[in-house]
Amino acid sequence: MDFNAVHPKELDTNLFRMIDDEWLLICCYDEENGRENMMTASWGGMGILWNKEVCFLFVRPQRYTHDLLEKQDRFSVCVLPEEYKSAHKVCGSQSGRCVDKMTATGLHEADFDGVKAVAESKLVFIVKQLYRDDLIQNGFREESLLKHYPADDFHTVYVCEIEKIFQKKD
Ligand SMILES: Cc1cc2nc3c(=O)[nH]c(=O)nc-3n(C[C@H](O)[C@H](O)[C@H](O)COP(=O)(O)O)c2cc1C
Repeated sequence: MDFNAVHPKELDTNLFRMIDDEWLLICCYDEENGRENMMTASWGGMGILWNKEVCFLFVRPQRYTHDLLEKQDRFSVCVLPEEYKSAHKVCGSQSGRCVDKMTATGLHEADFDGVKAVAESKLVFIVKQLYRDDLIQNGFREESLLKHYPADDFHTVYVCEIEKIFQKKD
C-alpha cells in the first residue's frame, strides 16, 4: 500500500486548517446497498479524552451517515488531497440513500484493517465509536447558536477513538 502508519503525536498537520478548509469524509459501509458511503464533514475536532486519542464528529439526524453510524462502530475518516476537492460537491450535498457516491465521484474504495476508506486520500483515520449522544436545546449557553437548528435537527455527537492513522507516501 502507498500509505505509512503514523502515530497521532507525529502527525504534521494543522488540524484546524484540515477540518475547516480541507474538510473530512466520514466513510461508512452500507451493508444494505453493498457499498461505501462518504459524507463531507467540517464540524468536529481531534484531541484527547479518557487518555485516548479521539475525534469528535457532529452528524445531523437526517443524514444517511447518521443511520449508518447507528449500526457500525468502526469506520474511517478520510482527508482528500486538493485535486479531489470536487468530490465534496457530491459527498457534501447528496444522500447515500439515493446515490452511489463512489461511482458518482469516481473515487475508489480501499480496505484498511477491515475498514473501508477512500484510496485517493492523503490521510485516513481508522476510528471506533466510544460514546454518542444528541445535543439538546437546554445545553446551549449561547442562544445565538440555535440559529443553526431552525428545524430542531440537533447534531448527534460521536466521540471516537483514533485507532490508527495512515498517511499517503510522498
Ligand atoms: C463543507 C461541508 C461541511 C459539512 N459538514 C457537515 C457536518 O459536520 N455535519 C453534518 O451533519 N453535515 C455536514 N455537511 C452536510 C452533509 O455532508 C450532506 O448533508 C451530505 O449530503 C450527507 O450525506 P449522507 O446523507 O449520505 O450522509 C457538510 C456539507 C458541506 C458541503
